[in-house]
Amino acid sequence: MGQHAGTHFKRGGEDADETLGNRLVIHNLVQEDTRTSFIKDLRHGLTAQPKRLPPKYFYDELGSQLFEAICLLPEYYPTRAENEILTRHADEIADALDCTPVSLLELGSGSAVKTKRLIEALLRRQDDLLYIPVDISQSALEQSARVLLQSYPNLRVTAYASDYYTALVRVSETKDDRGCTLALFLGSNIGNFDAEEAQKFLRSLRSVLRAGDALLIGADLKKQPEVLEAAYDDVLGITAAFNLNLLARINREFDADFDLRAFKHVAVYNEPMGRIEMYIESTRAQAVHIRQLEIEARFEPGERIHTENSYKYTVAELSSLAISTGWTLGDTWLDGAERFSSNLFIAVAD
Ligand code: TRP
Repeated sequence: MGQHAGTHFKRGGEDADETLGNRLVIHNLVQEDTRTSFIKDLRHGLTAQPKRLPPKYFYDELGSQLFEAICLLPEYYPTRAENEILTRHADEIADALDCTPVSLLELGSGSAVKTKRLIEALLRRQDDLLYIPVDISQSALEQSARVLLQSYPNLRVTAYASDYYTALVRVSETKDDRGCTLALFLGSNIGNFDAEEAQKFLRSLRSVLRAGDALLIGADLKKQPEVLEAAYDDVLGITAAFNLNLLARINREFDADFDLRAFKHVAVYNEPMGRIEMYIESTRAQAVHIRQLEIEARFEPGERIHTENSYKYTVAELSSLAISTGWTLGDTWLDGAERFSSNLFIAVAD
């Protein structure tokens, strides 16, 4: 634990890993297992006032599938919008770095579907490419690396199963001096940070890069509350299922008795704060027992658990965020409907 396992992608030998083995290294830097931190966060969050639970526990197997489904919903435009931008402008983005070779460093890579557009654009400019994905999920890393390595014979992958900060330290220790880096922070990941966390994240990313390196960062734009609220509360109820699955997961993993019919999904746009707020709301007075942890949580009618924020930006706000964290905002690309932005931050000399 806490050491890199240097996995060389060889397990059982029953699949085609042998041919990929020398192009893939996965370092496992995960410090604490999920169950241990989940227990701490449950004790903490359910006794806090107001109650809250961190969003990272949404993504168990069912939660991850529900999130994939959210990305297909007509109301949830961000994924499609960003895909549209990357499909249209990958070559321009790749051209923005005038050095070779470019390495690609992705924070929160997930299934890495959108990353393919950039990998292809870079492989049109250079003979081979080093891709460095960082994700908290080792299984997501293995799966996406396998698919990518099979599609691109000139790709090498050095992956980190890790939180962002631990991985960034390791990346800076092991980086060689050749070429430059294009970092990726896609989706509306930045939106899930409050202002302070966003600044901390962008500063530490800047500190492992060099002047002239770049960061392509996705950000959902401020817009009419109805459009935003629909994106986080679709008519089919998939987003509601995604949010409530957190309680179902607690029932499954800790022998709890949340009655899912007595809770509902709430998504509201807090306009002064510029963020969508996600809650799970108790529809009546009730007591819930998490038997394995000997926790009893009491709820008033209408009492909420805060599960996630999703901040929305303007291009001007992104520009000042860049400037305050050691970057400057280069190009910004929007989708056709101008709902979502992809922004190229350029690392400035310190
Ligand atoms: N990062 C995504 C976003 O902010 C996550 C997300 C989409 C989400 N729909 C959700 C999180 C519903 C909680 C509930 O857009």
